[in-house]
Amino acid sequence: MSHTKPSLIQLTINGQTQSLEVPPMKRLLDVLREDLHLTGTKEGCGEGECGACAVMMNGELVNSCLVPALQVQGAQLRTIEGVATDGHLHPIQQCFLERGGAQCGICTPGMILATQHLLDKHPNPTMEQIQEGLGGNLCRCTGYMRIFESVQQAAQCALAGKE
Ligand code: FES
Ligand code: FES
Repeated sequence: MSHTKPSLIQLTINGQTQSLEVPPMKRLLDVLREDLHLTGTKEGCGEGECGACAVMMNGELVNSCLVPALQVQGAQLRTIEGVATDGHLHPIQQCFLERGGAQCGICTPGMILATQHLLDKHPNPTMEQIQEGLGGNLCRCTGYMRIFESVQQAAQCALAGKE
């Protein structure tokens, strides 16, 4: 795809400010994977339908395959690489691991970020809220029950940690 002349873009990603020259219409998904070498963000459909490429942008969950680089000028981004801290899995990641919420793993980064976003809004979500919160994320492997159970367990762990 032709992306026209590169522009200088500054963004903060996983707490680090970066400047890079990229074509303004290059997809954020490709900027992450090719220019920033953050390959944890996955491509599924490439059409905004599956959520595999989801990242947090200015506090909102976005499908990075639909976001042109020019829109991330000055943005705060979080990718799956920014979820674990100091080499320790985030409790949500740990729960996905323990409850079998990940199989091939293609959908998992997007699911984890969608779960973080959901639990920020609803720390003790109902099953309906979980299903709605993860409604934009498709999985071909798990049948969803294990994913939903992983989210429930992550919420319980977070609540127990706050008591
Ligand atoms: S790859 Fe972006 S929504 Fe499917
Ligand atoms: S674990 Fe394979 S697509 Fe979800």
